[in-house]
Amino acid sequence: MITIHTIAELRAALSKERFKGKRIGFVPTMGNLHEGHLQLIDQAKSCSDIVVSSIFVNPLQFGAGEDLDNYPRTLIADQEKLASRGCNFLFAPTDAEVYPHGREAQTQVEVPVISDMYCGESRPGHFRGVSTVVCKLFGMVQPDVAIFGEKDFQQLMVIRRMTEDLSLPVEIQGAPIARNEHGLALSSRNGYLSPEELKTATVLNQTLRKTREALLSGSKAFSELEEQAQNMLETAGFKRDYYKICRRSDLQAASEDDNAIVIVAAAYLGPARLIDNIQIDL
Ligand code: PAJ
Repeated sequence: MITIHTIAELRAALSKERFKGKRIGFVPTMGNLHEGHLQLIDQAKSCSDIVVSSIFVNPLQFGAGEDLDNYPRTLIADQEKLASRGCNFLFAPTDAEVYPHGREAQTQVEVPVISDMYCGESRPGHFRGVSTVVCKLFGMVQPDVAIFGEKDFQQLMVIRRMTEDLSLPVEIQGAPIARNEHGLALSSRNGYLSPEELKTATVLNQTLRKTREALLSGSKAFSELEEQAQNMLETAGFKRDYYKICRRSDLQAASEDDNAIVIVAAAYLGPARLIDNIQIDL
């Protein structure tokens, strides 16, 4: 695997591959890689000839008081993991390479409506930062296909919509959520949790499964189920953020005749904010 730090070198390397007719698959990340990220690399490998991953802790998507400074940076270990899964190129730019005119002067991409709900409401400006950096990374890598995890379900929807709205020539693929043996969705932020909190963290997925069972057995009392779930999380030691039964097409609150459902949830546990979701076909 070749690690590249500048846009010019990246373009030079990838234009050679493109000239040879290779299909380029792209997996953007912020590093501190775990099995969830690596499964995205596997998926990219299965649908392209050359796999490019990026590691960039994007300051634009962190709000004031969030964990930008403490976000784990583990480049050497990440390089080994990516290489072991057959990733061909790692692009690891500096802040100055990505935002040469500074963050304040950066042109931004904003996907309306969906960016303001749920995670967007709790983290104002977060999705503007995500769509801006992903749009820039698409311009740098010019991938044929890009893979994003369903763990960040709302992010995947924002990126699909941005790609469609800006007519970007990139196929967007979602990848299933990778979990540990107790059902906890893998996340770099799990590293902030104590062993005790890690045990409690599994209640988030258990709660989602419980709501799913209720929906599958015919309950349509969405608000009641949401409130029960919030109480279950609080009893376990979480602090509330959101827990919403949505229709999958646009993440609006589900109505009784919707069949394609996703329950999206976020909750605070000790120093971390955890998110998870579950898809249901009724
Ligand atoms: P990051 O949190 O590093 O995640 C990179 C990719 O890995 C995202 O597509 C995310 O959904 C996926 N991912 C993380 N945990 C996963 C899991 N347990 N199972 C499946 N996929 C998982 O998301 C970002 O970085 C950034 O916002 C980024 C898109 C790179 C823009 O800065």
